[in-house]
Amino acid sequence: MAEFKTVAKVSEVEPGQLKHIELDMDTQVCLANIDGTFYAIGGECTHMGGPLGEGELEGNVVTCPWHSAEFDVTSGELKGPPAEEPEPAYQVRVVGDDVQVALD
Ligand code: FES
Repeated sequence: MAEFKTVAKVSEVEPGQLKHIELDMDTQVCLANIDGTFYAIGGECTHMGGPLGEGELEGNVVTCPWHSAEFDVTSGELKGPPAEEPEPAYQVRVVGDDVQVALD
């Protein structure tokens, strides 16, 4: 079974907002709130490692703050260059006031 880790409080990420989370040296998560539903994908851009959670969110799409690659935060799908690879997508659940992500 996947292990869920608490990464944020519900109140920290309003609808339409992102949060960049560094869980440890190797694990970064881009957490997004879209109309009250939370989504999480890899936080380190597959292009050159830009922090996706510090980018811009428009609809379902996050734009990397470094060179503007685009990813769908609901699936990790690559939507625009210069990145060439998608991001991993993680399961998310809300328990009480905690947002938890399964990093498997
Ligand atoms: S690091 Fe994200 S587009 Fe270059």
